[in-house]
Amino acid sequence: MCRLPRDRQKGKFSIASRKTILKGGQSGEPALLAGNSGASKLIRTATDQVEDLEMPPLAKRGTYPALTRDEVALIKSWIDEGFPWKTAAVESSSSNGK
Ligand code: HEM
Repeated sequence: MCRLPRDRQKGKFSIASRKTILKGGQSGEPALLAGNSGASKLIRTATDQVEDLEMPPLAKRGTYPALTRDEVALIKSWIDEGFPWKTAAVESSSSNGK
């Protein structure tokens, strides 16, 4: 989907794990709020509700087109379901993703 590779992390935000997603980045605001897609920053940016943080950036839509309504709807339902996260063996955290 739309993500920067690990080595191009910006704004101290990491999507490496569910935990870092919930923690958020520089702004201190988590990207996703479990069960509340409407208030989730990821959805707000992807639907152009955050001024100057429209995602993908407006100037780059030639290369990176906006998500389709179906894609947004799919991500929203995942968030509203609490965004279940399968933790593979890779994540050593003691939590099981909850
Ligand atoms: C919490 C939500 C998000 C935040 C805080 C965020 C933040 C940022 C920032 C700070 C930049 C660099 C600014 C710039 O290049 O003008 C960026 C670039 C970008 N973002 Fe986001 N973004 C978010 C969500 C998304 C989503 C949902 C998508 C895709 C649907 C997306 C796609 C992109 C793309 C394609 C770029 C340009 C990358 C490049 O130039 O190579 N972002 N984002």
